[in-house]
Amino acid sequence: MDCPTKEEFSEEQAECQDESNCPDYSSAIAESNSESPRILKILQKWVPTVSPYFDKEHYCYADSQITIQESIDHFGAIVWPGALALSQYLESNQQELNLKDKKVLEIGAGTGLVSIVASILGAYVTATDLPEVLENLQMNISRNTKHMNIHQPEVRKLVWGEDLNEDFPKSTHHYDFILASDVVYHHTCLDPLLTTLAYLCQPGTVLLWANKFRFSTDFEFLKKLGNILLVTLLAEFPESNIKLFKVTVKEN
Ligand SMILES: C[S@@+](CC[C@H](N)C(=O)[O-])C[C@H]1O[C@@H](n2cnc3c(N)ncnc32)[C@H](O)[C@@H]1O
Repeated sequence: MDCPTKEEFSEEQAECQDESNCPDYSSAIAESNSESPRILKILQKWVPTVSPYFDKEHYCYADSQITIQESIDHFGAIVWPGALALSQYLESNQQELNLKDKKVLEIGAGTGLVSIVASILGAYVTATDLPEVLENLQMNISRNTKHMNIHQPEVRKLVWGEDLNEDFPKSTHHYDFILASDVVYHHTCLDPLLTTLAYLCQPGTVLLWANKFRFSTDFEFLKKLGNILLVTLLAEFPESNIKLFKVTVKEN
């Protein structure tokens, strides 16, 4: 199929449009010893289609058309801007990242777009979210991967901060990559989310986290994350207020 031409997505108002009004997070981010963060735009990967179903959206990543069923029932049932940024990053850096046969876990996977892209790029993917999101997530993942010659993704419950040792024991669950998009916003589970990221990031794991920065609490979260893990800014999408970070364990 032909993918659409480049265009920018529309933007929402953000509380922290002017970062000078937000908590200083600069000390939380490690200097990259290779290159400065890339300044990017979100490309239009949404494919306009004539469809009788108003709740299905079509995207194009990694040369594949991906159909996502959305709904207004839940935060996790729509595609958020961080998912577009992370999907685009996975696609355009596929050679460097080399997801082929890597073990990947996505937290707060929502509609599953990022997990689907990672699967198409060759990874063994486990997509996780709250129980109430899993049905739609499973449906999107199955629909977009079942006839492809790729590792079939797994869908599992992962509630931040809950039963991590029981459900994802470190001895048997080591991931090469953790993926997270727009998991930080105004909600009451920021501390359990921090605990979860710290738990899942083992030596050798790379967390790729893309987030639209809207609220001062988003920057506070970033600061706390930088206190416990090594956070490097990989890319910024200034027109959408999205930042994309690489996060690893700190070396002693
Ligand atoms: C803003 S949505 C982002 C969804 C998707 N990553 C994207 O970018 O399109 C936040 C996601 O985090 C999930 N979430 C929120 N609180 C959670 C919790 N306590 N445990 C696990 N997942 C949670 C929601 O169900 C939702 O899928």
